[in-house]
Amino acid sequence: MSIGNGPGVIFFEQTVALLTLDDFERNARQSLSAMAYEYLHSGVADEVTVADNRAAFERIKLMPAALVDVSEIDTSVTLFGRRHPFPILLAPTGYHKLFHEQGEIQTVKGADLSEAQLVAASFATVSFEEMSAVAARPLAFQLYFQIDRECTRDLVQRVVAAGCEWLCVTVDVPVNGPRDRELNANFALPEGTRRANLSFMSPEMAAAPHRASGRNFYSALRSPSVTWKDMEWLRSTTPLPIAIKGILNPADAARAVEYGCNAVIVSNHGGRSVDTLPAAIDALPRIVQRIGGRVPVLMDGGVRRGTDAFKALALGASAVMIGRPYLYGLAVDGAAGVARVVEILRTELEMTMGFTGFQNVCQITADRLWI
Ligand SMILES: Cc1cc2nc3c(=O)[nH]c(=O)nc-3n(C[C@H](O)[C@H](O)[C@H](O)COP(=O)(O)O)c2cc1C
Repeated sequence: MSIGNGPGVIFFEQTVALLTLDDFERNARQSLSAMAYEYLHSGVADEVTVADNRAAFERIKLMPAALVDVSEIDTSVTLFGRRHPFPILLAPTGYHKLFHEQGEIQTVKGADLSEAQLVAASFATVSFEEMSAVAARPLAFQLYFQIDRECTRDLVQRVVAAGCEWLCVTVDVPVNGPRDRELNANFALPEGTRRANLSFMSPEMAAAPHRASGRNFYSALRSPSVTWKDMEWLRSTTPLPIAIKGILNPADAARAVEYGCNAVIVSNHGGRSVDTLPAAIDALPRIVQRIGGRVPVLMDGGVRRGTDAFKALALGASAVMIGRPYLYGLAVDGAAGVARVVEILRTELEMTMGFTGFQNVCQITADRLWI
């Protein structure tokens, strides 16, 4: 495996000593400033949802299967017409230059090293065009509806022109939540941080503070007045597949399909929007049932082990995404760290399939869960 920036062997040795995603978290904590770590790691309010995203996975037990030939295990899945070697994607997360000086460039390289698909964030510190230029595999782009529709349309046109494979439209943060830990750490974007994808709108938008001072209720960068009408409009502007991210309510999931969305991503934003939402894995079955196979359902939130990914697949997800874990990898070791995090999870998923007696992801069903 080739390694990111710097003397490869040293980075490789440093990385292989970290065996679990939690090892990466502990290591990242040591290498990041307190402010950057708090931004990365924290959730909202009392972090009930953050904790439950993990606890809910741990409550679900596995049903093993004896004497099944698992000499060949294939984790590949097809999403939006393209084959992925495993059903683990990198969720959209902002501001990667907080975690590595090259920011998203290293993330793209890490995604390529590990063959994972990266969903680039609207609030990236490297533009989608620059990311695409170094990417070996197609990127997806996460969109927040901008306050100005024309800006939203321009942004979509730009990412399409740069080769975006599908859009991930995030709909679960109409207002700001109480990010108390961030506030306690006095988190602010470091001087010079730019949201590179917004630079074409205005330098002020690109450099706006993370949180407005004062009441801090609305974001200057995300429209609070978005409705299903806007989704209808967006659908009419592009033939690109649209995945709607941040769905927990089954009625919303059904509506998303009616409005032409091509996938639903069950997510509580990693416990970063409003507290006491259900764990994403607990919300998944009801959404899967409501969708009834019409479009793929993905999920994220709390995936830290291959067994977690397996449980999501068993409950009907087509793939999972991870957020914080690959950022820990980025902070610890740039591209190599991102790749190692993915590799750990992928290998653990294969192991879980071996113990539960599955050769292919499409065979996985809930009868190998102890429920
Ligand atoms: C530091 C950080 C930044 C994030 N930024 C975004 C974002 O810009 N857009 C978005 O849709 N989700 C964002 N998310 C949420 C992730 O896409 C994802 O839903 C969440 O991290 C999954 O939970 P996990 O961190 O437990 O894996 C962010 C999450 C983190 C941790």
